[in-house]
Amino acid sequence: KLASPVIPVYFHVIRSSTSLSGGNVPQSQIDAQIDVLNNDYATTGLSFTLAAVDFTTNSTWFQRADDCSGRTYQTAMKRALRKGGANALNVYTVGFTRSTGDCEGLLGYATFPSSYSGAPTDDGVVFLYSTLPGGTAVPFDEGRTLTHEAGHWVGLYHTFQNGCTSPGDSVSDTPPEATPAFGCPTGRDTCSGGGVDPIHNYMDYSDDSCMTQFSTGQITRIKSQMSTYRGVTF
Ligand code: ARG
Ligand code: ZN
Ligand code: CA
Repeated sequence: KLASPVIPVYFHVIRSSTSLSGGNVPQSQIDAQIDVLNNDYATTGLSFTLAAVDFTTNSTWFQRADDCSGRTYQTAMKRALRKGGANALNVYTVGFTRSTGDCEGLLGYATFPSSYSGAPTDDGVVFLYSTLPGGTAVPFDEGRTLTHEAGHWVGLYHTFQNGCTSPGDSVSDTPPEATPAFGCPTGRDTCSGGGVDPIHNYMDYSDDSCMTQFSTGQITRIKSQMSTYRGVTF
């Protein structure tokens, strides 16, 4: 058994051109993103190491590998690029730049551990390149979009899952929350009883600078989900 499991990260950069605005992110931002993950997951016992980086120039995938263009583009992209087994975190930075449609403003999306066995190629995180640390997606420019999406990938739901109704996010120490929080609101309390909303939790929708924690109950859930579905033991 590993005392402190290390997750290999395969980092797939999808770009429309070789300029930064075309998604051609510098290695320094990729390295900074891995540092943010390791900082944010320190309390969970999980750590992350960059296994490989690859670059693919494909403006259709860059624009449309979202979750709203059917599955055509994301499926093709992941089939071509995914590496490693159930324990490998494959991430794809894209632009979500289609000018019409319901994916405008999307920051990212992820698959859950429980779906790996049925759809291994689909497994991973797709997210907006400008959310990397130092990117232009202010106030989502500190790398916490990948922290949040990786939270789904390790088995967590949003803190506002099921609103004020039990079982909520299936974690007992995150107070129930009716709707996502935006910005960094002080004293927000959308459900009666259970405490103020967990707006500082990585699994809410607050600004990057507002997100600082996973709860003890979430860490317990991460360990059980990762061991059950990804063969990762702590
Ligand atoms: N809306 C996205 C999701 O549901 C990500 C939210 C990320 N929030 C942030 N502060 N970076 O998965
Ligand atoms: Zn989410
Ligand atoms: Ca809860």
